[in-house]
Amino acid sequence: MSKPSLGIIGSGRLGTAIARQASAAGYVVRLANSRGPESLSLIVKVLLPGVIATTVDEAILQSDSIVLALPLNQYKSLPVQLLKGKIVIDAMNYWPPTEGEIPEFMNQEVTSSEYIEQYLPGARIVKTLNHVAYNELEQHSLPEASPGRRAIALAGNDADAKAKVELLINDMGFDAVDLGVLSNGRRFQPDTSLFNTRLTAQEIRST
Ligand SMILES: NC(=O)c1ccc[n+]([C@@H]2O[C@H](COP(=O)([O-])OP(=O)(O)OC[C@H]3O[C@@H](n4cnc5c(N)ncnc54)[C@H](OP(=O)(O)O)[C@@H]3O)[C@@H](O)[C@H]2O)c1
Repeated sequence: MSKPSLGIIGSGRLGTAIARQASAAGYVVRLANSRGPESLSLIVKVLLPGVIATTVDEAILQSDSIVLALPLNQYKSLPVQLLKGKIVIDAMNYWPPTEGEIPEFMNQEVTSSEYIEQYLPGARIVKTLNHVAYNELEQHSLPEASPGRRAIALAGNDADAKAKVELLINDMGFDAVDLGVLSNGRRFQPDTSLFNTRLTAQEIRST
């Protein structure tokens, strides 16, 4: 069975690492940034063979699932209408040391992904891939059922979307651990014990 297609918005450290892993796993991957596909031609040719450089709109229109791998402070550039009905993987973090303070994300009562869900009505948000360092997506990737395989947590309010994202995580070389509703994404935001920590599925569940 052919793999679903994946669009990635943000072509930096995280976006390219996800592109490489998903492409190696057989996904059709489209990668976009704010400057247009021409700016990505060299990186795709040299580092990401098989990945398609495109515009943000085309990456969304042509893909089953979309990864948000752009700086959180750029979220207002996202095309709200195009993302309606799409599975949207929110891999962004509110991380003031690198991006500065964003007033609307300073309210700790709502997680950053819940805010993004409100901003993107109709998008099927799954929070995941945000708590693993980009270089470890490749370094720690292991085939299914390998002893000590690292796990990645996910959270969201759409069960079908989460099931599809779990398959992607597995295909990228990690066990997926569903921690429940989107608000539970609080458990693996920055400054939590799950953030940037190498843990198995069992260890995540018992943390
Ligand atoms: N680095 C990690 O290990 C890691 C791990 C987990 C989660 N994250 C999260 O992932 C996000 C990105 O982090 P990063 O380290 O990959 O950042 P990065 O290396 O600075 O890359 C950001 C990318 O986003 C693109 N971009 C900027 N504004 C955009 C826009 N309006 N529309 C589309 N693309 C845009 C940039 O390219 P142009 O400027 O050319 O558009 C660049 O390709 C952050 O929220 C971060 O917290 C990072």
